[in-house]
Amino acid sequence: MADKKELRIGLIGYGFMGRTHTNAYKRLGDFFPELKHKPVLKVVCARNKERLQAFADQWGYESIETDWRAVVARDDVDAIDICTPNNMHAEIAIAAAEAGKMILCEKPLARTVAEAQPMVDAVEKAGVPNTVYYNYRRVPAVTLAKQLIDDGKLGKIFHYRANFLQDWTISPELPQGGEGLWRLDNDAAGSGVTGDLLAHCIDTAMWLNGGIKDVSAMTETFIKERVHTGTGEVQKVGIDDACIFHCHFDNGSLGLFESTRYARGHKALYTFEINGEHASIKWNLHDLSRLEYFDHRDESIERGWRSIHVTDGDQPYMDKWWVPGLSIGYEHSFVHQVADFFKSIEDGTPCSPTFKEAQETQKVCEAVLNSAKSKSWQETGVDW
Ligand SMILES: NC(=O)c1ccc[n+]([C@@H]2O[C@H](COP(=O)([O-])OP(=O)(O)OC[C@H]3O[C@@H](n4cnc5c(N)ncnc54)[C@H](O)[C@@H]3O)[C@@H](O)[C@H]2O)c1
Repeated sequence: MADKKELRIGLIGYGFMGRTHTNAYKRLGDFFPELKHKPVLKVVCARNKERLQAFADQWGYESIETDWRAVVARDDVDAIDICTPNNMHAEIAIAAAEAGKMILCEKPLARTVAEAQPMVDAVEKAGVPNTVYYNYRRVPAVTLAKQLIDDGKLGKIFHYRANFLQDWTISPELPQGGEGLWRLDNDAAGSGVTGDLLAHCIDTAMWLNGGIKDVSAMTETFIKERVHTGTGEVQKVGIDDACIFHCHFDNGSLGLFESTRYARGHKALYTFEINGEHASIKWNLHDLSRLEYFDHRDESIERGWRSIHVTDGDQPYMDKWWVPGLSIGYEHSFVHQVADFFKSIEDGTPCSPTFKEAQETQKVCEAVLNSAKSKSWQETGVDW
């Protein structure tokens, strides 16, 4: 490791994503030894000093800051990693770009298209490397789906279907806002399941199947009022609890998407299925190492759905891990994203999805919400 160039990380926010990203930085050098850079856990930032210091000690950060502006201003930080709630992404990213820092930002890029645009402008003006953690692209079975589609195995695509189902907000007693519950507060989150869950489905869908042209959507807020943690008052709930939309893709295929936090029994069931003229593929997050594949060109007597266990060295990313037959998990998608980001710096190429690409997903999310509100079809304006 001695001759590697340091890439000094400033992590803002140490919650769920702060841990997955830190884990990725810690694993990187061991499993991607060819990289010329090594991450250095320089500083982590959040507001509660005591808990932050405990996190820094546990995970191995060299220092702490309680104001993110101090992290952005530090000369000993090369890259800012944004793991805060959605309402803070824009301000931090713009300041980081202006300070010439590389930026790795959590999804969704921002709460709205208008809020995201200056972020895109700022990274492009500063010319700083940037990426957004739509990490599901880098689950090996999902990356393999991309490979099969790009190889033409499916032929012309007719249908794209995706769901992202959870069940954790069914209780009306759950407050909105505050630690762990900012996703229920529209000011912090920008939307409900659309920006939180469907954004993932939309990013994967456009990556696999091209741009989404127009959408028709409906949303529902099942619990209309909740206590707000910040004010202590019962307040109107502004987020969408559930969202269903259908759409046209630029390639002529039809899309059908559903997300909810009211599907009792489902914790994080992200699934997609794609039907083409020759073949179909299916994937689900609960069995993330498998890609289901049906090819109509197989001999009819043995034709059927194959369950491809994506663990072999010639399948995406799997040469980096164990031996054929042994699975990897959720956390590895973040290791892959960080590895690809480091590689992109070394190659001088963009690490997809960039802020610009994530802005296209933002446009679809916004068109979905506008469609539900206006009860009309909406053009997305996506340029994929
Ligand atoms: N890629 C994915 O699959 C995925 C999964 C979960 C969350 N996310 C995204 O990651 C982001 C964070 O989500 P999370 O689940 O980790 O949230 P979280 O609530 O677990 O963590 C948020 C962190 O932000 C910190 N924070 C809040 N305000 C701050 C401030 N003013 N200054 C510094 N730190 C502050 C909190 O202390 C906390 O550590 C969100 O944008 C979310 O949409 C992405």
